[in-house]
Amino acid sequence: MSNTLDEYYVEILWLVKQAGSIIREKIYQHKDVLTKSCDVDLVTKWDQEVEKLLIDGISSKYSSHRFIGEESTASGQKVELTDAPTWIIDPIDGTMNFVHGLPHTCISVALLINKVAEIGIVYNPILEQLFTARKGQGAFLNGAPIHVSNEKDLRKALVMIEMGTSRDPEKTKIVLQNLELLAPRVHGIRTLGSAALNLSMVALGGVDVSFEFGIHAWDIAAGDLIVREAGGVTIDPAGGPFDVLSRRVLCASSMELAQQVSKTIVQYYPERD
Ligand code: IPD
Repeated sequence: MSNTLDEYYVEILWLVKQAGSIIREKIYQHKDVLTKSCDVDLVTKWDQEVEKLLIDGISSKYSSHRFIGEESTASGQKVELTDAPTWIIDPIDGTMNFVHGLPHTCISVALLINKVAEIGIVYNPILEQLFTARKGQGAFLNGAPIHVSNEKDLRKALVMIEMGTSRDPEKTKIVLQNLELLAPRVHGIRTLGSAALNLSMVALGGVDVSFEFGIHAWDIAAGDLIVREAGGVTIDPAGGPFDVLSRRVLCASSMELAQQVSKTIVQYYPERD
């Protein structure tokens, strides 16, 4: 199995690098933008092209592999996570940033086998940040090992949050409530506009916590493995085990910190993937 995983890893890295050059070439050019679930849920033809490149590349080598992709799902494909090798793909995470030319945007790809994450890759081709992890083998930024901060105290934590890509009034209210609850209790609040990069920043030790409600499996599957391989934890924001299809995530540098955040915030339960 490990030889096969080595082969998958080499193959996907090569494809992700190729896909990255599309994002690098297009980010500062004019793009035609379409909307999906609401007027801030954006998509461009480049999201679709990157996803196609990755899925075609993997399928041509491994015909039995399955996919959960952001844009395939938007086109009507059902999200189904079985025990089969499944690639969970966000072709451009941070599409809003990509549309505006803000260089915090990335490709996020995870491989799950028997529903367990084996490979996680988050690649920002603009800033040349390649975050990688394989189960049991550590996490890396551009090939150098990375580690979470080990912060355990909420009062000293730097926290990533996101408004998300929904205009739902109940969800927006809870995001703002959580901002109000956390801001006076932590060192600071940040937002990058890409869930996958937010999680990667926890892995890097640049921030101590990231949580979000309403994200999808493709936003967080790779980041989850990268955080855990960097020594951090991923849980459900209410404190239970993480479920990649639940549309809820809380990553932190330590379980102590994750639990403090979990006890502080108001919960929101979106419909599952
Ligand atoms: C979005 C980004 C954003 C997060 C949203 C995601 P997309 O992904 O990760 O940071 O707040 O919840 O949907 O649409 O750019 O792939």
